[in-house]
Amino acid sequence: MVSGPTFRYGASVSISSHAANPERPHHLRPVGDGEIGVHPDVEPLAFLLGTWQGEGTGEYPTISPFAYGEEIVLTHNAKPYLVYSQQTWSLEDGSPMHSETGYLRLCGPAPRRVEAVIAHATGLVEISEGILEAGKIELVSTTVNGTSTAKNVTAVGRSILVDGEVLRYRLRMAAGGLPAHHHLSAELVKVV
Ligand code: HEM
Repeated sequence: MVSGPTFRYGASVSISSHAANPERPHHLRPVGDGEIGVHPDVEPLAFLLGTWQGEGTGEYPTISPFAYGEEIVLTHNAKPYLVYSQQTWSLEDGSPMHSETGYLRLCGPAPRRVEAVIAHATGLVEISEGILEAGKIELVSTTVNGTSTAKNVTAVGRSILVDGEVLRYRLRMAAGGLPAHHHLSAELVKVV
């Protein structure tokens, strides 16, 4: 058996015991892989599952407008949440831009309450909640906090609309002491 990394308090973790167990669901499932069903609690969010790619534009009163490419991946592992990851890049030179990752949960009958916890690569964490209704999700942050070097963001609002294979969203934020302003809008298509 190969010993894994030793944590600071001295416990040794075995990596091989996980890798050797074929029963352990060790990777996340894209939609429609036929192997494992979406948890019933998040089934109403299943229309989000997949890999989405597209382009967006951004602005804010304090910055110059910009354009970006984006990939969003939503997967599941049969637990009552979806796993969300997002990467963006410059359309000018392909260099990485904003990135974020998190989880989506759902509760209640329609209109259902959506809960999102999202970590931003820029040092921010966001907890947002809102409503799912007819392919549309409206999220408003209840908490935005950051590391000591993160920018000062106090609120984030997201409007997400899925129409078949097309996902459109708009994002507004309150940052740098300003009230909420539009920051992003993007359109992505499902590629997987
Ligand atoms: C919830 C998601 C996001 C939050 C909270 C956020 C927040 C911010 C903040 C606080 C600023 C600084 C504004 C200022 O300096 O006055 C900023 C600027 C900027 N954002 Fe975002 N942003 C988000 C997503 C994105 C995405 C997806 C992109 C594009 C790919 C992006 C691109 C930019 C750019 C290019 C700037 C200007 C340069 C800079 O300050 O880094 N942002 N954003």
